[in-house]
This record gives sequence, C-alpha cells and structure tokens, in this order.
Amino acid sequence: DGKKIAADLLSQIKHDITLREDDGIRRPCLAVLLIGDNPASEVYVRNKKIACEKVGIKSISVDLKDDVSEEEVLTIVNKLNNDPEVDGILVQSPLPDQVNEDLVIDAISPNKDVDGFHPLNIGLLAIKKPRLRSCTPYGVIKMLKTLNVNLSGMRATVVGASNHVGRPMALELLLENCTVTICNSKTIDLKDKVGQAELLVVAAGIQNIVEGDWIRKGAIVIDIGINRVDGQVVGEVEFSVAKEKAAFISPVPGGVGPMTVATLMENTLIAQKLS
Ligand code: GUN
Repeated sequence: DGKKIAADLLSQIKHDITLREDDGIRRPCLAVLLIGDNPASEVYVRNKKIACEKVGIKSISVDLKDDVSEEEVLTIVNKLNNDPEVDGILVQSPLPDQVNEDLVIDAISPNKDVDGFHPLNIGLLAIKKPRLRSCTPYGVIKMLKTLNVNLSGMRATVVGASNHVGRPMALELLLENCTVTICNSKTIDLKDKVGQAELLVVAAGIQNIVEGDWIRKGAIVIDIGINRVDGQVVGEVEFSVAKEKAAFISPVPGGVGPMTVATLMENTLIAQKLS
C-alpha cells in the first residue's frame, strides 16, 4: 500500500522540518519547472506541490510556454542553481523537442538535483556512494524495507532499462546485494527471467508486458508502470492473475506513485542539508 507507506514517510519529513524550524532553519524550498501543457505532467506537478504543502516545503513554480528556447531554460536553471534560497530543482519531463533533456539535467547543480537524474548522482549510486537518489527507484527500496524481508542475495529481475527508472533501480538493488537481472525490449526469454525472480520490478513503459502466470509463486512484485488507457491508469503486470501468485504486489494506482512523490520531498530536505 504505497499510499500508506508514503503517508508515514511524509509525516516523518514534516516532523523533521518542524524540528529544524524550531532551531531557526528556514523551510526547504523546491523549484518546479513545467514546460507546456502536457495534462499528465500537470497532474504530476500538482501532486508534488500538494505534497510540499503537506510537509512544509516551500514550492516555487516556473511555468514556461511550449515554445521556450533551450537557452532560456538553461538560463533559468542557472539562476536557480545560484539562488541560496532554493534547495531543489525539478524540471518535469517530457520536454519539448527543442529542449535537450540531457543538457538540462547536466546543467542542474548536482546537490540541487532532487530527481537524482544528474550523471554525478547516478555515478555515485553506481559506486556505492549514493547522495541524491532517483525518486522512483529509491521509493521502491523504501517500500521493500517495510516488508522486513532480507533482500540480500535475492534473485531480482528488473524489466526496463531506462535512465530514469530501470537503470537506477538495478543499481539500488545491487546496493542491497540482490543478484540482479536487467531485461530490456530486446530480451528474448523475458518469461523465463520473470519466472526466476523472487523480486520482480517492472518499468518497461508497455502495458501488461508481464503476464500474471509468469510470476514465481511467493515473489514480491513491484509495478512501476503508469499507462493511460481509456481514461484509466493501469500498470504493466497483469494484476488480477499475478496477485494470486505473489506474496506481495504493488497496485497501480496507489503503489509506487505516492512513493516517488514522498521520496522527492525527502530529497528536497536532504538537498537543503547538503547546501
Ligand atoms: N516525468 C514523469 N515522472 C517524472 C519525475 O519523477 N521527474 C521528472 N522530472 N519528470 C517526470
């Protein structure tokens, strides 16, 4: 139940921020850049700002037109990098074609990179020295920790190898000493790789890519997929069948999504502590 786990995490963060305020430390501040009017991005950004309000983080909105130039975005990021009142910077993706996402991520100061997408932060995770960690994969780890199962040595399969989710997810699981298999769109024997998994994490961007009867009995199944079908949000695992085989399974919606937002709040507080 990601909603419940995230709510507990948010109250801890709120408590920490309140204690810091008692010590005279200002509230953390998150700057959120939203470009264009992608309805899904608008929903994500709104949820992030609501979470900020809940925990006592100040949020600054920078809403830009769809035809904004790359130079202008980079100038704004640079200004936010140099603003001592701003702790975290988040540029909501996807970006319009004329704005190169890699360039924008590279431009964010690594210690303000609350998405954990900057090459330095990904590299630190890869060498077992995590600093600001990608919100969704780290949120999944936090979710797993509430199960009180020993992850060490566990056979884990990650389906999906994107920069923002699949790859850092595999690195997070490596850090937990899992034996990690990473599948991508070219994987030939996906069914076998899924069937071997004691822990399965799916973030492929393809609705229902994992059939329910592929799941190993007693597995832990984490579905990171968010696909919109006929106005409904659905995941990437065939939930109705998979839930009969899994020991634990995260639903969509109400699973990983709230964990991502809660971890972003934590990252913003960590970023303030780093500054
Ligand atoms: N678009 C969808 N999810 C995310 C996210 O977690 N961070 C950013 N920056 N953009 C997103």
